[in-house]
Amino acid sequence: MHLRISTFLLLMFLSVSSEPFMLGSPLPVIVWHGMGDTCCDNSTMGEIVRLIKDEIPGVFVHSVQIGDTESADRNAGFFGNLNNQIDRVCTELEAIPELQHGANLMGFSQGGLFLRALVQRCPTIKAKSLVTFGSPHSGVAEIPKCPNDGDALCGWMRQLASRGVYSWYIRDHVVQAQYFKDPKRLDQYLRHNIFLPDINGDLDERNTNYRSRIIALEKLVLVRFSEDNMIYPSQSSWFGFIDDEGNEIPLQNTTMYHDDWLGLRELDEDSRLEFVNVDGKHMEIGEKSLRRIVAKHFGGGIRGSVFRVQDY
Ligand SMILES: *[C@@H]1O[C@H](CO)[C@@H](O)[C@H](O)[C@H]1NC(C)=O
Ligand SMILES: *[C@@H]1O[C@H](CO)[C@@H](O)[C@H](O)[C@H]1NC(C)=O
Repeated sequence: MHLRISTFLLLMFLSVSSEPFMLGSPLPVIVWHGMGDTCCDNSTMGEIVRLIKDEIPGVFVHSVQIGDTESADRNAGFFGNLNNQIDRVCTELEAIPELQHGANLMGFSQGGLFLRALVQRCPTIKAKSLVTFGSPHSGVAEIPKCPNDGDALCGWMRQLASRGVYSWYIRDHVVQAQYFKDPKRLDQYLRHNIFLPDINGDLDERNTNYRSRIIALEKLVLVRFSEDNMIYPSQSSWFGFIDDEGNEIPLQNTTMYHDDWLGLRELDEDSRLEFVNVDGKHMEIGEKSLRRIVAKHFGGGIRGSVFRVQDY
C-alpha cells in the first residue's frame, strides 16, 4: 500500500496539467447497488465505498440513491419505471459539483445495467471507465430469484411478474420486467418491453448517441460469475444470451456485435472491452479481486492508469 501511494503521488507531481486545480485529485467514482440492496447499507455498499476510498486516497464516491430514504431506495430497486429512474438519477448527478469533471462508474448486478443506460442517456456524466459485476446487459430469461426467502418486497415483485411481465401495469411498474427477455417470445419483448430494447438498440429506430457515448468510454469491463444463480443466462453479464433452444450465444455471434450498433465491437477491437470471469455464484467476489479491479481501472485518476497491478 505504502509503495503504491508513493508511486501515485510521484506520477501525479510529474504530470503536467492544463487544469492545475485538478492536480492530485483522483477522478470520482459513482456506484450503483443491486436488487434488494440500498445506496447506504453500512454492511454492503458501505464496505464498497470504504474499499474504494482506501484504495484511492482522497477520492469522492457517490452511491446512487433513488428516493429520499434508504427504504424508498430499496423499494425503487423492485418497483418503478426505469426510464424515469434513469432520468431522475441523471438530473440529480448533474447537480453534484464534484462530478462535473467526469467519473468512473461501478455497478453491481442490475445497478451495472442502469449505469450503462445512464452513460447512454445522460451526456453530462462524462464517464471514463465503467465496470459492471454480474449485470444483465442482454436481459434475463427468468425473473431473478430472491436473495433471501424472507424478503417481502422481492416476493411481491416475483408474484406480480408471474402474472405476465408485459401485462398492463406490471410492464412499467416492476423493474425486473423491464429487463426480461424470453428468447422464445422475442416479438413480445420487442413490442412491449419499455426499457431494454431501446438501450440495447434492438428496435429498428436507434438512438445514434448511444453508440457514440459507449465508444467514448476509455474502458468497459464486464465481470461475469460462472455459477451465477441470479442472472440467467450468466452470459448476459458479457452481453451474450441464449437462443430459443437454450444454447448460449456469445456477444461476438450476435447481430448487435456484427453490425456494431452499440459500439461494442469497436471497443473490443480497440482492446477497451474487457471480459472478466469470476468462478462463483452471483456476487461471490473476494475483497482482493475487488481491490485489484478498483486499482487497475480507477486508481490512476485523471491521468490514466498509474498503478501496476497484475491481472486478475
Ligand atoms: C460501519 O461498519 C464499519 C466497519 O464494519 C464500522 O467500523 C462502523 O462503525 C459502522 N458504522 C455504523 C454507523 O454502523
Ligand atoms: C459463433 O459463430 C461462429 C462463426 O459463425 C461459429 O463457428 C460458432 O460455432 C458460433 N459459436 C456459438 C457458440 O454459437
